[in-house]
Amino acid sequence: MKRTHNNGQLKLENTNEIVTLKGWVSKKRDLGGLVFIDLRDRFGITQLAFHPESPLYQKTLKIKNEYVLEVTGKVIERSSKNKNIPTGDIEVEVTELIILNTSAQTPLIIQDKTDALEEVRLKYRYLDLRRPILQENFIIRHKASQAVREFLNEEGFLEIETPILTKSTPEGARDYLVPSRINGGEFYALPQSPQIFKQLLMISGFEKYYQIAKCFRDEDLRSDRQPEFTQIDIEVSFMDQDEILDVSERMIKSIMKKVKNVDLVDPFPRITYKQAMDKYGIDKPDTRFDMHLVDITDIAAKTAFTVFTSNIENGGIVKAINVKNGASLYSRKGIDKLTDYVKKFRAKGLAYLKLTNTLAGSIIKFLDEDLQKEIIERTKLEENDLLLIVSDKESVVNQSLGNLRNHIAKEQKLYNDDDYDFLWVIDWPMFEYKEEHGRYFSPHHPFTMVQEQDLHLLKEAPDKALAYCYDLVVQGQELGGGSIRIHQEEVQNQVFDILGISKEEQQQKFGFLLDALKYGTPPHGGIAFGFDRLIMLLVHTENIREVVAFPKTNSAQCLLTQAPSSVSEEQLKELSIKTIK
Ligand code: AMO
Repeated sequence: MKRTHNNGQLKLENTNEIVTLKGWVSKKRDLGGLVFIDLRDRFGITQLAFHPESPLYQKTLKIKNEYVLEVTGKVIERSSKNKNIPTGDIEVEVTELIILNTSAQTPLIIQDKTDALEEVRLKYRYLDLRRPILQENFIIRHKASQAVREFLNEEGFLEIETPILTKSTPEGARDYLVPSRINGGEFYALPQSPQIFKQLLMISGFEKYYQIAKCFRDEDLRSDRQPEFTQIDIEVSFMDQDEILDVSERMIKSIMKKVKNVDLVDPFPRITYKQAMDKYGIDKPDTRFDMHLVDITDIAAKTAFTVFTSNIENGGIVKAINVKNGASLYSRKGIDKLTDYVKKFRAKGLAYLKLTNTLAGSIIKFLDEDLQKEIIERTKLEENDLLLIVSDKESVVNQSLGNLRNHIAKEQKLYNDDDYDFLWVIDWPMFEYKEEHGRYFSPHHPFTMVQEQDLHLLKEAPDKALAYCYDLVVQGQELGGGSIRIHQEEVQNQVFDILGISKEEQQQKFGFLLDALKYGTPPHGGIAFGFDRLIMLLVHTENIREVVAFPKTNSAQCLLTQAPSSVSEEQLKELSIKTIK
């Protein structure tokens, strides 16, 4: 029979209608002959009722959870209503029952709340995905991708696909390689992003491109990273940084409005990379709470504490964070734990001061009354506050205190999941020098354009040059990043030179792009947003696997299909590959 309604649809006004429903058995209760079954589909749950005198009663005895049923019956008003579900006012008195399929006992319970281990959930992902709470994530994901397309189509963008079997792209991770059978010994790389192709599309004259694109990066995985993930990828010609930020902002706002009915502040605040590092210690600050990093190097230099003074003499700095009410929140033991935490970021220690009537703490004996006063004023320390201090190289101080700030905010629940603190971080440096490698790197990628007023610095002092580069940050996460691109061959060559990419390597890796730049390349730029991360934000999860239908584990495995797995000797031979045993 044809299904007349779904399981989330029937209301009191349907009373007395004869309906046909299909779905899975979510729950069965037998109250001494009176049998109730909750029938579930993607749209909801409807209660089915079978009376003891019903000829179907015997058949219901066979029914178990997750059996697939087709039922026909009359909608009646329920005597005890369930206000928690949309169909809670009615039930269906079943007159016809077909068991469409049986089900073995499932290895996890198909309910929103589950105590199943993630390994079990991933192995039986098709069952895990039956859970309404997970289905909701994918409904939101669908709505978001539709909202993206609606917005960009309206703005005149074209959706164009770019190759998956391609050449290495420069996003800084390791490539996934695919051997070529026809060209033995040669490999394609899966794209780390469509970066080069979207630039080529600008050279082709498409002007406004987008793609909801799969990207592949072989990097260490974390709770917000997958080896294959999805980007909302955008590139435009003839727009400057402000115009790109504006269209991006309007897109994010339209997604938030359509999917969550949230109105965001207009416009998103902007801070420079330097301000972010000074005030928050990290380039993706969570601005839902304060606890800013405060520089106290000048005060620390006047103390008799040799750890501070010798660090400062060697070019180091001293910064502090003020944990409001922290004096009672963190005991000695608690502070020891925070000290262990900052050691992960190479800090050698964590000094502290507590203000409870008087100032006390690990470095108090090095502070005379005047210095105490200066510190209290500078850090706005009030009764019952805790000051945590790190002294080291600037990068270590920023990294350790920046992460500690987030760690404490999480421990003390200083923020709300519904606060969307979208923030642009702009004015990134063109290059960062990595001592361990003895050379410059691009913070983003080597196609990023230097700011006009800094063009001369490429020759004189590359590390002082700023880039037309921007990241969109929210709740301490990098949601997106992009830049204005270099559209002149000479500048691109110059940047490759500074990055220490030899002429041969330039030709071998990017020769086709350098060639293309010769033929009337328009000024262009773009951005890409982590689509999975956007969905994490919309559904309030910290685990990216909750928003990817068939995700990989942190060790890059698919527990469902057992990929990656070994292949036959014949296949390897065909691909001209020998493996090391
Ligand atoms: P970028 O490398 O910053 O830029 O990537 C853009 C956004 O993609 C998301 N992202 C990830 N999400 C999940 N798992 C991963 N492994 C992962 N890696 C990145 C982040 C990030 O902000 N081609 C440039 C963009 C451009 O310049 O236009 C690029 O890919 O949210």
